[in-house]
Amino acid sequence: MKIGILNGGGDCAGLNAVTRAVVKRAESYGWEVFGIRYGWEGLLQSDIVKLSFAEVEKLIGVGGTILKSSRTNPSKHPNGFQIVMENFRKLGLEALICVGGDDTLGVAFQLFKRGLPIVGVPKTMDNDLSSTDYTFGFDSAVNEAMHAIDNLRTTAESHDRVFVVEIMGREAGWVAAYAGIASGANLVLVPEEPFDLDGVIAFVKNRRDRGEKATVIVVSEGASLKKASAKASNGSVDEFGHPRLGGIGQLIGEEIEKMTKFDTRVSVLGHIIRGGSPTAFDRMLSTQFGLAAVELIKEGKFGMMTSLRGFKIATVSLEEAVAKQRLLDPEILETLRMVSY
Ligand code: F6P
Repeated sequence: MKIGILNGGGDCAGLNAVTRAVVKRAESYGWEVFGIRYGWEGLLQSDIVKLSFAEVEKLIGVGGTILKSSRTNPSKHPNGFQIVMENFRKLGLEALICVGGDDTLGVAFQLFKRGLPIVGVPKTMDNDLSSTDYTFGFDSAVNEAMHAIDNLRTTAESHDRVFVVEIMGREAGWVAAYAGIASGANLVLVPEEPFDLDGVIAFVKNRRDRGEKATVIVVSEGASLKKASAKASNGSVDEFGHPRLGGIGQLIGEEIEKMTKFDTRVSVLGHIIRGGSPTAFDRMLSTQFGLAAVELIKEGKFGMMTSLRGFKIATVSLEEAVAKQRLLDPEILETLRMVSY
């Protein structure tokens, strides 16, 4: 059997670990594995490379993806779906493992409905996919962000400064919330609860009145003001219609400095938290997902996605997985309120 594997969308820690596990398990069945380069772009261009376990065995702790990734959306290319289907057959592939977030898996579901034998594996640092408790890449991003905020806290204390730390995560506040709670940030602002600047300024002033001169505020890039008509972004949009978010931290920082005269700095963590080595949790999850994806193919369970339920690896349909985005649970929002100080 000849199977393909692709990574689509933004990379995250653990992608190589999935590839490694897929190759390991597939080779045990005597199958051949082909890496499709640059996500869906690789199937539009027939850009594939044969993989052997010898090539991937040492990659469990290596960040990024040797397969490369892109945000190519076949539906935005003339006859895109048809070309992908034709190339898949011409390449002699018999099954495809798609490792991606809601965009990549959404395309996978469309292609599955057209007859392509596909299984999905959920990845994204944003952790915003429904039907799985965690996506891999999230825990690594949270840990990187937590360490960065820990560092910013010490310099904030030394200079009696206010620090606003902007963190990626798109429309969901998972990374900001977990990293903010784990690093003891004073206030965390997330997309799920629009805020007003007066409240933030009052919060900082109140801390000063209590003698707390340093304040660390974590803000998720998708957070917005109650009265804002759009999220802060640079105006560009990708092939899936997502704006490139960013700028809310700067807006908050400038306003705090203007209204309070407190020395304020803004730090945008950006892609630093997405790159680098996966945590043990993400290495474990990626490995289990990779092995489970091969089993799905073996059992002919196409149109399904691997998922984590509690401590167990489960499967869900791609249809269910891409039906809606997963935002922060009410329990986490409540935790944010309780630990704010
Ligand atoms: O979806 C993952 C993510 O890292 C988001 O958190 C972020 O908004 C986006 O990708 C950044 O995309 P790019 O790598 O294309 O700049």
